Amino acid sequence: MTSSYLPEAATPADEPAIESLLDLTFGLSRRTKTSYRLREGNTAIDGLSMVVRDPDLGVVGTISYWPLRIGEAGTEALLLGPIAIHPDRQNQGIGLSLMRTTLAKAAAQGHALVILVGDAPYYARVGFMKVPDGQLILPGPVDPRRFLFLELRAGALSAAHGLVYPANRFARTRMAEAD
Ligand SMILES: CC(C)(COP(=O)(O)OP(=O)(O)OC[C@H]1O[C@@H](n2cnc3c(N)ncnc32)[C@H](O)[C@@H]1OP(=O)(O)O)[C@@H](O)C(=O)NCCC(=O)NCCS
Repeated sequence: MTSSYLPEAATPADEPAIESLLDLTFGLSRRTKTSYRLREGNTAIDGLSMVVRDPDLGVVGTISYWPLRIGEAGTEALLLGPIAIHPDRQNQGIGLSLMRTTLAKAAAQGHALVILVGDAPYYARVGFMKVPDGQLILPGPVDPRRFLFLELRAGALSAAHGLVYPANRFARTRMAEAD
């Protein structure tokens, strides 16, 4: 289905509404998920945090992306998520519209690889596939069938091996080494 809602850039003023929407859709236990380990102390990528607004309900859709590094080579990647749509506005194409818009922007920014943890049949609609077993390691438990990737540049996954970690943790480690 094609959505009549247009994704817009998220602003700092949207933050409380976004947090409420995430609590509503995922529940309060969401912060225990492995994906959250990759967002702690991390900063969402500029220009890729988008929302969909509804005249009656306010923010009804949200998506964001987080910078990651992978393995000893420090291969760059993005974490997609969370993406959430208000229960009263689901199945109207908003989620797919948010993903298509932001993935195109990510590609235009030069990002090569996106990973996420989520329902494979849904994300397959925009091209995500299962990460080959053992190639990438997340910092916590994950169902391997839900660990997915999308190449924005052909062949990008082949450069990525090992532990996935937040990009700025990498920066801190390098700074510590330089001391
Ligand atoms: C999952 C979610 C982001 C999808 O967004 P949405 O705007 O409702 O979905 P869209 O309108 O873009 O897409 C709808 C289509 O995707 C399918 N779909 C929706 N969620 C799905 C899922 N978890 N798995 C497989 N298919 C799914 C719908 O059946 C529908 O299919 P159709 O086009 O054949 O009718 C949204 O429903 C949501 O926030 N859910 C709560 C959080 C959640 O369950 N997340 C799990 C995914 S990781």
